[in-house]
Amino acid sequence: MNHSPSVVHTRTALREALNDLPGKRGLVMTMGALHEGHLSLVTEARKHCDHVVVTVFVNPTQFAPGEDFDAYPRTLDADVAALTRAHADLVFAPSVEDVYPHGDAQVTINPGPTAQVLEGATRPTHFAGVCLVVHKVFNLIRPDVAVFGQKDAQQLAIIRQMVRDLDMGIEIVGAPIVRAEDGLALSSRNAYLSATERTQALVLSRALQAGQRAASSGKNAETIVRSAREVLASEPAADVDYVALVDPTTFLPVSRGEAVLALAAKIGTTRLIDNTVLEVNDD
Ligand code: PAF
Repeated sequence: MNHSPSVVHTRTALREALNDLPGKRGLVMTMGALHEGHLSLVTEARKHCDHVVVTVFVNPTQFAPGEDFDAYPRTLDADVAALTRAHADLVFAPSVEDVYPHGDAQVTINPGPTAQVLEGATRPTHFAGVCLVVHKVFNLIRPDVAVFGQKDAQQLAIIRQMVRDLDMGIEIVGAPIVRAEDGLALSSRNAYLSATERTQALVLSRALQAGQRAASSGKNAETIVRSAREVLASEPAADVDYVALVDPTTFLPVSRGEAVLALAAKIGTTRLIDNTVLEVNDD
């Protein structure tokens, strides 16, 4: 039988609940609107830990004015039901005031150069907000292991770097992207897509597949990126932000070895990102 996780909303209740969870502690941070991708992070955390704590918190500091903070789906009851099926032990769903009790933080984290490119070029304050909330939640929960999805590959690289540079002593585990059967990477923002837009959005995964094929046949970095761009250009509804082949750690352009082919495009008003890891063996 599935056992519902305890759900706590305040730091005080969190502290008490954590006392009841001895052993190795795993953390999965989410903004809610959970899908199978999030649940796979819980399953991954379980492999490494005795207990898994999941946070559900739409973090205002990682949204710029005009982004979708207010519209972001908030579905806590459905999230807890899903986390029951995934065997999470504890859910921390705080208010903004509980995470930021003193208002705007005066001491913040500079996420460094990896945060200035790709997603960071379009969303210049985004990764500082992510690092701030991740660091705060790490301090509140003190996990041994934290699992983040490869879907947000640049976020994962920056969090790894923060943990390394600030000696945070937490093992960061990356979990593979979960895709729908037709290839669309699962994302809470897919909920914004109309049926037509959802079909149009499949161009993102098709572009990555074209890049993968070019890499497998020994094409160089330029050709790999061009193959992906050509597929994206075939869908008039896709407003492309970037297509880039980058180093998995620095997110700077690479021309050989292991690389992340990353892309972002708007379908209608919904901005989607996707990526794949590939090997570039220049021809
Ligand atoms: O990946 C996300 O959903 C968010 O950026 C995270 C890590 C939960 C921080 O708010």
